[in-house]
Amino acid sequence: MLIKVLGSAAGGGFPQWNCNGPQSAAVRARVPGFRPRTQSSLAVSANGRDWMLLNSSPDLRQQINDTPELWPHSDAGPRNSPIKAVVLTNGDVDHIIGLINLREAQPFSVYGSDRVLATLDANSVFNVLARDKVPRNELPLGDPCAISGAGLDLGITIEAFAVPGKVALYLEDAAAPGFGSKAGDTIGLKVTEPATGKAFLYIPGCAAIDGPLSNRLRGASVVFFDGTLFTDDEMLRQGLMAKTGGRMGHMNISGPDGSIAAFAKLGVARKIFVHINNSNPVLDENSAARKTAEAAGWEIGYDGMEVRL
Ligand code: MLT
Ligand code: MN
Repeated sequence: MLIKVLGSAAGGGFPQWNCNGPQSAAVRARVPGFRPRTQSSLAVSANGRDWMLLNSSPDLRQQINDTPELWPHSDAGPRNSPIKAVVLTNGDVDHIIGLINLREAQPFSVYGSDRVLATLDANSVFNVLARDKVPRNELPLGDPCAISGAGLDLGITIEAFAVPGKVALYLEDAAAPGFGSKAGDTIGLKVTEPATGKAFLYIPGCAAIDGPLSNRLRGASVVFFDGTLFTDDEMLRQGLMAKTGGRMGHMNISGPDGSIAAFAKLGVARKIFVHINNSNPVLDENSAARKTAEAAGWEIGYDGMEVRL
């Protein structure tokens, strides 16, 4: 199984269009140690020819153009695409808007939780993906599902599971507990290639690592995990936004309640941060935060990164 990181940044990308914070300014100025990043998505293939996307970001057009594996095949007619399926982990703007880029009457399949599919159904702009060509399939929680698209079995199964998180920002109900978040608003994915038994976990948004999630993570060979923030209040301290990570549904990397500490005893062989916000100091290759994460055995995902299982 081949995994490519199409986009390693959180919503907004790196740099973010309206951000003049020190890191977005540095990456714009091409300061050494700062690498531009597009928004959150992976591509996965069992056979190297047919691909599925895990999330579809607003930067998908650029990501396809930067990834030859996702270009139309030269031997498959005037209109074709290697992208056969898109699997969504939540309804956030950075994860669903790329679907709009995939219009043009090209067959593929969309997978998501009932909650996320209901959001697509409620937004008629997604009807540019005609349902006879682009069926929407519910991913049940806790039940592995064989992924197919455009008439092909992709040789990959996905088990979706609920993780602690928050409903998409634009769906928040200020009056409801947890802003109206329900199971299925934020899911993690266990992606398995049955032919080899190889598997990895993809969890780009996560508010906390509870007991059930620890059990899923323990002993995993590869985990791509929410690397949004290094510290809970870094956006406030940088004057970027008056929200903590906790308020946004993202746990931080550092500290006793952070992901480095939570993973320390879980025996995960490869740990890779993705969905990294422009405020996160790990984006500076020369920062103390970067050294801390790497010393704890973490890799900082980057656009174009390849992982083979
Ligand atoms: C998030 O990951 O918290 C969201 O993508 C934020 C947003 O919608 O901008
Ligand atoms: Mn996001």
